[in-house]
Amino acid sequence: QPIYRKDYTLSEYLIHTTELEFDLTETQTIVTSKISFYKNPKSNKKTNILFLDGIDLELISILVDKAKPDYKLVEQGLEINNLADEFILEIKNCIHPEKNTSLYGLYQSNGNFCTQCEAHGFRQITYYLDRPDVLSVFTTHIKADKQKYLVLLSNGNLIKQINGSTTWHDPTPKPCYLFALVVGNFALKEDTYITLSGNEVTLKIYVQAHNINKTQFAMAALKRSFAWEEKRFGLEYDLDIYMIVAVDDFNMGAMENKGLNIFNTTYVLASIDTVTDKDFIDIEAVIGHEYFHNWTGNRVTCRDWFQLSLKEGLTVFRDQEFTSDLHTRSIKRIEDVNTLRTLQFAEDMSSMQHLVRPEHYIEMNNFYTLTVYEKGAEIIRMVHTFLGEVGFQKGMQLYFQRFDGDAVTIDDFIQSMSDANNFDFDQFMYWYSQSGTPEVSIVSDYNHNDKTFKVFIRQHSQCDYFFPLRFALLDDTGTKLESGILTVKDKEQIFIFNNMDVEPTPSWLRGFSAPIKLKSDLTFKQKIFLVRHDSDAFNQWDNAQQLWLSLILIPSSINQDLFFDAIEKVLKNTFLDGSCVSLVQDKSLICEILTLPSEQFLHQQQEIIDVFEVHDKREKVINKIIERFKLLFSKIYSKLNIYQPYELTPEAVGNRALKNICLYYLAISGEFELAFEQFKSANCMNDKMASLKALIVSDNSYKNIALDGFYHEFKNDTQVMDKYFSIQSSASTANVESIKVLMQHKLFSFNTPNRLRSVIGSFSQNYVNFHNQQGYELLTNIIIKLNQSNPQIGAKLTSVYNHWQRFTPKLKALQKQQLEKILAIENLSNNIFEIIQAALK
Ligand code: ARG
Ligand code: ZN
Repeated sequence: QPIYRKDYTLSEYLIHTTELEFDLTETQTIVTSKISFYKNPKSNKKTNILFLDGIDLELISILVDKAKPDYKLVEQGLEINNLADEFILEIKNCIHPEKNTSLYGLYQSNGNFCTQCEAHGFRQITYYLDRPDVLSVFTTHIKADKQKYLVLLSNGNLIKQINGSTTWHDPTPKPCYLFALVVGNFALKEDTYITLSGNEVTLKIYVQAHNINKTQFAMAALKRSFAWEEKRFGLEYDLDIYMIVAVDDFNMGAMENKGLNIFNTTYVLASIDTVTDKDFIDIEAVIGHEYFHNWTGNRVTCRDWFQLSLKEGLTVFRDQEFTSDLHTRSIKRIEDVNTLRTLQFAEDMSSMQHLVRPEHYIEMNNFYTLTVYEKGAEIIRMVHTFLGEVGFQKGMQLYFQRFDGDAVTIDDFIQSMSDANNFDFDQFMYWYSQSGTPEVSIVSDYNHNDKTFKVFIRQHSQCDYFFPLRFALLDDTGTKLESGILTVKDKEQIFIFNNMDVEPTPSWLRGFSAPIKLKSDLTFKQKIFLVRHDSDAFNQWDNAQQLWLSLILIPSSINQDLFFDAIEKVLKNTFLDGSCVSLVQDKSLICEILTLPSEQFLHQQQEIIDVFEVHDKREKVINKIIERFKLLFSKIYSKLNIYQPYELTPEAVGNRALKNICLYYLAISGEFELAFEQFKSANCMNDKMASLKALIVSDNSYKNIALDGFYHEFKNDTQVMDKYFSIQSSASTANVESIKVLMQHKLFSFNTPNRLRSVIGSFSQNYVNFHNQQGYELLTNIIIKLNQSNPQIGAKLTSVYNHWQRFTPKLKALQKQQLEKILAIENLSNNIFEIIQAALK
């Protein structure tokens, strides 16, 4: 049943042109296709049989060169025999988007039609060669009731429009996973962008009418994406029109369909009153991400789905750079690494552990993962670190020179980087062919007599990885004595630094230059020093994280007073006495330094996950922080809590971040008045949410007043209501009963993934309240329902159980029961089956 990477073969037939006609009504959609096939000149097999993918389609008619062909319907498709080397296939079939709850293929959201074809959704629309290496030029005719549906869109340029019908022509050959169709009623936000070479591009964002006043930020972000792509990568847009459509019902974030992106409304709609600072920056990043796919994904696409990271790893790297260039690089890096280490490293320890370039899959949609995306991006980042910006851009140019218009592999990409720079990446390819997180240790030795500083690096993995280790050696004022990049490639390596007059403090793996677990011999004192003096902000934060981790898990292992003294200096030094108020990112960084490792991250450090123990230990440290810093937090809060018009500058974002973390700690200490004051007076959603989060840390007299107020103010705003639900599901006071109550709420909707994520997704991360028999049963019943209605989301939620083997015996046994219960249901989807099977293996 699985499909293997090693089994890749060329398609026997290719496609010149694809002409589609959609006739959409409320009760059915008729799809008519006219596809011109030709024998693949690269294939030397003698075959005259063609298999076309097709799922849940009602075939109405089929003609090959106007005659009835020799064909048969087979499982998951259609087989045609006795074909010529060139022929025209004409098919008519019927589908039912109005009944499609899987949000895959053609479906409806709020009465509007839209599509999601990646990875294999097109086969639910019509019979086709549904594989990314078959590219063709698409023409699409759309017909729909003109009284009902005013907007009829597909990829490319609008070439004809007459009453109730449109024709679109996309001149760029593309695989069918990039096809999109949208029909319905939308309000339009329009603008233009003039490319570097002077071409005028029409930019259109379609949203439901009541959201039109929340499109301004997305439009500006889109223009910034166009401009950044030109400036940093020298790449321009290639069509005259770029459209974004936002829908409420969407399985993921967004989709890069050629010239017609379809987005989850979460990643389009923005206003100061409805989204947080982080939301703004995430929205901009996703808009950028989908735009950057136009070159890395669409112009050059994937040969097969095992190559997914070719486009996703690279495009995530590019969107990370976009955000870094536009906002604060060090903070962006801290956030990205934190996500990687919390979620991807955990994925590496779970039953769904897989390669960045997987070897097999049953359901491709299960592989749109942190490993493929985020670890994939880290690998590209290492290439960039080795080659530098100039070398990397040279590689990109060669890549496009060689492969523009093609469907290629990860090897093709790395080969371009290699050839353009004369750099050997052979050993580097282990990153794609070894799974798991590499473990590396580093020990140093200073010799007073000969003034040498020796560094011993050791790899503990099955293979020797090739990676860049960015470092600096600092003197006791934090000045660099030496810095650069060590190239690590052997099992054991020694580096020697001479003429070190004083013993340096090393700052290893600056900026997290490789996605590894590094164990160093840094002492407690050195870590404290680095928190305060490292000029690499990432390492300042990382050393603080390591110290928090020790303090939480093994309190006796570090000197708490000394650590807290250092934290106090970080807090005070930077602005209370005015002595060094220089760097704008400081306040954001202080906030990061003050943030404890999440429970999820702490679980990873445990041999056996004990959610209750971790929670309690972490709470203890929170209380210690409050005990020590409460007064200081009050001072900082009142100093920062001054009225300022909303801005999204690093300075303003940092102010709010630090102010709000103080508010949070103060609330835990029992001071709810401040939070309630802020709740009432906040001039932006960021501060409103922060105060609400502070108010719900425990039961108090303001909690329900605030929640009710929030509900009444925003009940008509779907996006804000997702926050309303998720904040309650994540609350320490949540339990299975309260979640069931939320699911009875009139705004709860089982078929809207965003709402399901905000209630069930959030609750599944609420460890101490979720991990019990009732919690599991609740989740399992939902998964069983989703198996029918939306297996993609069902599989995502099933993945909650991927870590079951690492839990304490009782919870472990309970989770196993759940997996077995799901496995036993009838008609189990491939999506969920693959997850369960891996978990029980
Ligand atoms: N290509 C999209 C993006 O990352 C995501 C598509 C996810 N598709 C899926 N079937 N899970 O921009
Ligand atoms: Zn992507």
